[in-house]
Amino acid sequence: MIKKIFLSGIQPSGRPHIGNYFGAMKQFVDLQNEYDGYALIVDYHALHSLRNPTEMNENIKNVLLDYLAIGLDPNKVTIFKQSDVSEHTELCWIFDTITTMPYLMRAHAFKDAEQKNKEIDVGTFNYPVLMAADILLYGPDVVPVGQDQKQHVEIARDIAEKFNRTYGEIFKLPEAMIMKQVAVVPGTDGRKMSKSYDNTIPLFAEYAEIKKAVMSIVTDSSGGIPQNVFAIHRLFRDENELKKIYEEKSGKYKELKEMLTEDIEKFIAPLREKRKEFAKDIPKALAILKAGGERAKEVASKKMVEVREKIGVNVY
Ligand code: ADP
Ligand code: TRP
Repeated sequence: MIKKIFLSGIQPSGRPHIGNYFGAMKQFVDLQNEYDGYALIVDYHALHSLRNPTEMNENIKNVLLDYLAIGLDPNKVTIFKQSDVSEHTELCWIFDTITTMPYLMRAHAFKDAEQKNKEIDVGTFNYPVLMAADILLYGPDVVPVGQDQKQHVEIARDIAEKFNRTYGEIFKLPEAMIMKQVAVVPGTDGRKMSKSYDNTIPLFAEYAEIKKAVMSIVTDSSGGIPQNVFAIHRLFRDENELKKIYEEKSGKYKELKEMLTEDIEKFIAPLREKRKEFAKDIPKALAILKAGGERAKEVASKKMVEVREKIGVNVY
């Protein structure tokens, strides 16, 4: 029986947080027994915001350890980095030639950057096309991501359709897989939790760091139930049970935050320990990444043979 395929990626742009975990990474682990999986470290994507080679190098190793520590099994999921498979950037170029500028100008990330009057590099503008190549080379059925990536997966579908229409059917249309309950995990300030907002609870935080982050959660002064605290707490405890507790302890923000700190600690402590174990043998972890890259390269290069055939550059 042919297994279904999932594929997703994380940028090595900083420490992952519980929003990344519940919104995306946890799904990778949940899917790995029933699906063949690809978990990417999208280092070329991260270049648009990270131009420090030492940091890039460290971050790549960090995402690798994160993947292993959350329980991804390299025998079930191909863990690899984008820069090991040059077919991604090659296919991106081919997709560039069938994607129009006005179409990409409708992407949220581009519109946000434009609104903020940021200087936009071509890589940032083109970001969704590289992501389409990441996805379509491997023919995944589903792409588990948080809500903010929904549009990018739709762009990948559109590009696949355009290619198929222009040159003939070779790309499977992927579906975004978004868990409703955790589509947007809020940060300590109530906005979406994000590395770029400085409002995160890091996934592998030490106790003191968890405590500091929880204590900094902005509490609404009206009503006894601090919504921001509750919204994060429900990731760690049954919602009905929590509702009762929050009603009983109405107005006691400090106590509720202390309880949340303990609940997060209980959840994170074993992950943190596992991560420390993997960190003791970096060469072993890197061997997993390298082997994953080789496996991915095989699949991607086969797909590129088909692509080159379709566009007519195969003359030998
Ligand atoms: P960030 O916004 O912190 O830079 P990334 O862009 O690296 O995060 O996102 C990695 C994955 O985590 C993506 O699938 C994204 O949709 C998901 N994700 C990021 N932040 C959240 C959040 N606050 N809630 C749910 N999912 C999220
Ligand atoms: N754009 C995604 C993010 O910022 C990362 C990403 C790159 C990705 N390529 C991908 C996610 C392919 C899923 C599939 O989070």
